[in-house]
Amino acid sequence: IPDSHTRKMKLLLLSLCLGLAWALQDFCPEQVAGPWQTIKLGATNRSVIEDGGAYLCFMTGIQILANGNLNVTYFHRKDGNCVKEYYIAEKTDIPGRYTFEYEGQIYLTFVFVSNIAAIIDLENHSESGILTVVELHGRTWFVDKQGLEAYREHTSRRGIPQRNIVNLLASRLHCTPQ
Ligand SMILES: *[C@@H]1O[C@H](CO)[C@@H](O)[C@H](O)[C@H]1NC(C)=O
Ligand SMILES: *[C@@H]1O[C@H](CO)[C@@H](O)[C@H](O)[C@H]1NC(C)=O
Ligand SMILES: *[C@@H]1O[C@H](CO)[C@@H](O)[C@H](O)[C@H]1NC(C)=O
Repeated sequence: IPDSHTRKMKLLLLSLCLGLAWALQDFCPEQVAGPWQTIKLGATNRSVIEDGGAYLCFMTGIQILANGNLNVTYFHRKDGNCVKEYYIAEKTDIPGRYTFEYEGQIYLTFVFVSNIAAIIDLENHSESGILTVVELHGRTWFVDKQGLEAYREHTSRRGIPQRNIVNLLASRLHCTPQ
């Protein structure tokens, strides 16, 4: 049985091979369970997070299933209405990285998790390339400096310019559970 240090080194090497140097090395699923609010969305293609965009979505909760997959609740605006949907994100070999189907194959990776905020990196792989969406979620509407700084760093690392980030706090685009 490899000791935990060897295991960590292997995961680190695997992540580096996949170009995921930013994946969390000590992800703990229990830390992301429960209710969330989506505070910011950023994307390499801004139109996907604008009104009517496929990735204008609001994550309101995560449930950990017995098999280790996640049941993620998302709200979307569809024809002006708020629609609630559940996505089953299946775990992968990399801690904190999951996959599910939504307009193609999506890879969902937790980049940062604290008691206050969580940052999720979403990748949609298609023939035309990779679309990246980076989400900032808070346990409440408040996110501390550490969370905001981690979000700034990750969006910049992913080549998402400031103008491609929407702040949903005061946005009319927001949609929440009734
Ligand atoms: C951005 O996404 C829109 C769909 O929301 C698509 O029509 C457009 O071609 C995309 N632009 C690029 C550069 O991929
Ligand atoms: C996901 O959660 C919702 C709401 O609790 C529930 O209705 C649904 O059955 C769950 N899906 C799975 C596969 O557990
Ligand atoms: C996501 O990827 C799928 C192919 O896997 C593609 O059909 C779809 O247009 C992509 N969505 C966006 C918004 O780029």
